[in-house]
Amino acid sequence: MAQTIFERYGGFSFVRKIVSAFYDRVIDSPDLQGYFANVEMPRLIDHQTKFVAQMMQGPASFTDEQLRRVHQPLAIGPAEFQEITELLCETLEDFDFDPADIDFVRAQVLRREPFIVSRHG
Ligand code: HEM
Repeated sequence: MAQTIFERYGGFSFVRKIVSAFYDRVIDSPDLQGYFANVEMPRLIDHQTKFVAQMMQGPASFTDEQLRRVHQPLAIGPAEFQEITELLCETLEDFDFDPADIDFVRAQVLRREPFIVSRHG
């Protein structure tokens, strides 16, 4: 059977490195840093590690309904969603991800937009 992206890139230890680099980018963004100002970073990084792993076909831990519940109160708009998606894909480029694998991950993230974005206009 074909390996998943998660397996091909080395599992959780590789994902952990991606997540640190990804979060550095998010925190540097003036449009995004406010959302994370009051969140304990170690906890969030732990969760985001599972999230990125899930987008790479690794072990799934968050249902669409859980994602909706966590993000609804944050009033995230489409522009912020787009920016986070792009920062993740840029991070994967930095780690020499295959372009086809980046397209796959991007599609996985975009599929979740209806559960993350709750502010329209
Ligand atoms: C497909 C896109 C996204 C996915 C899959 C995702 C996934 C997650 C997950 C799994 C958590 C942890 C949930 C928990 O605490 O158990 C989380 C928390 C969080 N996410 Fe996202 N996220 C996405 C997009 C975004 C965007 C665009 C923003 C902001 C612009 C954002 C802001 C946050 C914040 C602030 C938290 C922490 C909430 C808290 O613990 O109080 N997320 N996200």
